[in-house]
Amino acid sequence: MPDISTLSKEQAAQELERLAKEIAKSDEAYYQHDDPYLTDAEYDRLKHLNEEIEKKYPDLVRADSPSKRVGAPVKSDFKKITHKVPMLSLADIFSEEELADFVKGVQKFLNTDKDIEFTAEPKMDGLSFSARYENGILVSGATRGDGKTGEDITDNLKVIKGLPHKVEAADFPQVMEMRGEVYMSKADFFALNEKNKEENKKPFANPRNAAAGSLRQLDAGITKERKLSLLVYTWGEVSKVSWKSQSEFLKKVEEWGFPVNPYNRLCHNLGEIIESYENLLNNRADLAYDIDGIVYKVNSLELQARLGFLTRTPRWAIAHKFPAEQAVTRIDNIRVQVGRTGALTPVADLEPINVGGVMVSHATLHNEDEIKRKDIRIGDYVVIQRAGDVIPQVVSVVLEKRASGLKEYEFPKTCPECGAHAIREEDEAVRRCTGGLSCPAQAIERIKHFVSREAFNIEGLGSKIVEEFFNEGILQNPADIFTLEERNGGQEDDLFSSNRDGLHLENREGWGKKSADNLFKAIKSRKEISLPRFIYALGIRQVGAATSLLIAKNYGSFNNFMEKMRIGDTEKLVSIDGIGEAMAKDITEFFKEEHNLRIIAKLLDYVKVEDFEDTTDYNSPLSGKTVVFTGTLEQMTRAEAKAKALSLGAKVAGSVSGSTDYVIMGSSAGSKAQKAQDLGVKILSEEEFLSLIGQR
Ligand code: IVH
Repeated sequence: MPDISTLSKEQAAQELERLAKEIAKSDEAYYQHDDPYLTDAEYDRLKHLNEEIEKKYPDLVRADSPSKRVGAPVKSDFKKITHKVPMLSLADIFSEEELADFVKGVQKFLNTDKDIEFTAEPKMDGLSFSARYENGILVSGATRGDGKTGEDITDNLKVIKGLPHKVEAADFPQVMEMRGEVYMSKADFFALNEKNKEENKKPFANPRNAAAGSLRQLDAGITKERKLSLLVYTWGEVSKVSWKSQSEFLKKVEEWGFPVNPYNRLCHNLGEIIESYENLLNNRADLAYDIDGIVYKVNSLELQARLGFLTRTPRWAIAHKFPAEQAVTRIDNIRVQVGRTGALTPVADLEPINVGGVMVSHATLHNEDEIKRKDIRIGDYVVIQRAGDVIPQVVSVVLEKRASGLKEYEFPKTCPECGAHAIREEDEAVRRCTGGLSCPAQAIERIKHFVSREAFNIEGLGSKIVEEFFNEGILQNPADIFTLEERNGGQEDDLFSSNRDGLHLENREGWGKKSADNLFKAIKSRKEISLPRFIYALGIRQVGAATSLLIAKNYGSFNNFMEKMRIGDTEKLVSIDGIGEAMAKDITEFFKEEHNLRIIAKLLDYVKVEDFEDTTDYNSPLSGKTVVFTGTLEQMTRAEAKAKALSLGAKVAGSVSGSTDYVIMGSSAGSKAQKAQDLGVKILSEEEFLSLIGQR
């Protein structure tokens, strides 16, 4: 970004011309083709730069300046509708400081230091619409367009669920333009993209583009197929205003049968405004739809009237944008990691960048095909996305910024850790190292898995220590863990020790007698282990904690299970609901490998695997039911609730589908609750769940 303070007038004029072109091009891609190529953050940056330069050289403001426009002119295919009351935009702010300034500015303008009421409304990330009613009948609908003229989308609006075609309320104004946002929920967006993928159509970049692309269809039949939703948050032309404030309006709108956002709040002072901002920011990922910030509006219409408008935006409202969760940075390198089962996973090392308040320096690239599909090359500038706690991902390459001479990335055909061939089996997305446990990376990952929380859960053996111990030859396989104490040797001042030349972990840098003793204690306490944990700890491909529990339930003891597997008897295995042929094959192959059998034999020298006693209550009302938990529970943790449900014979699933029997909803539940509602799945509150299982 150029330094504005050193910009000559001539350079400023050039820069403004460049920005006008760039922003217009981006607007066209965004508004007319629903296919943006700049991230929101990049776009905001360009707009901001334009405004800053214009502020310094007001006489250079161009006739086609982006600061004079809202959106882009409408596509010609649609009929046009002129808005009697223009559809305006809002000024953006990005920090609590600016927010405080805004509130102070309003007070100053009104010449008061009393607290002023504001509504705080989630800023829906969709596209705005205006729906006109005459005598209670929906007569026309329009997009915002450039604010003055929009596209006629009457037929399309009519097929969106939730928008009344007729309003009979006695106090509904004779002429009433309802305005709000059309959007697509995240669940519907993902479903649509899945379908597009199957049909080899280009997927939409995000729910907003999907909503825009679906709404602006000349054939309303297509709009109807795509699931769109809408909310009302303001009005345009109206024959009689009978409400005195925004909050009163929102209440009335709801009474008239229009959807309004349940998260709208009325705030009485700056503290409450900030609170609502933080609340929404924190719960953003759980919402069923995307929001990109909060809109604050002075509540009183009388005060709104006094405050009035600036050129394109009201003085009584502002949009507080959330930090961008996307950013652009460069790929310095592509590394290939080797996992426990030999899977090669490519990772991008990035020029570190701040994405939505968190520094990001790596992103996952998933697999070979993903790199090819997106044509990601070392040295490329890419759009990075972070959402909630998922690992940052590379969304796309910014081709405009690609340096010449960057070579297409070639995925290694040998393991970067051990040099063995890396092969791809038919129908598999991943390439795997064939080195097995002679590959140090696989051996290390297996030990890490063995000591992990859901497996042996050995505290004191973190990833770094496992790596160190492996590289120094202290631990070569999981069984070695149980001889650590014996090999450690007595203390050096212990003259009677038979093993003074031992490992002496207590002498390692950063260790001491206490930490070594604690580790030995932790290991000792795991010498008796439950069957599901033991099976899971082996690290068989595809066998997670839930599958291990199923196996334990069905086989009862480890000996029984292993015997059946060794003779290749999988009849019972494949009859288990949740275990298929492919998984059964992975399991039997695991038990065919000599090395695995040797380690298991050694482990069984030190470890006692408890037989599995099935304490499941098959007579409980949850027995055989599939349940999904969502939101925050008050009385117990999610893990407890899950364990409880399992012990009552339920299956606990991670996502809602047609076969879900109950969704148990805690507070601030998000898309799962919405999906349950859409599918007609029974939703239970935490209380109802507790009383169903007889705990209330
Ligand atoms: S009020 C004059 N309220 O944000 C005020 N807008 O940058 C008109 N938006 O064009 C807008 N949620 O597309 C308002 N609760 C909300 C909103 C909202 C989303 C969008 C809308 C508008 C843009 C303003």
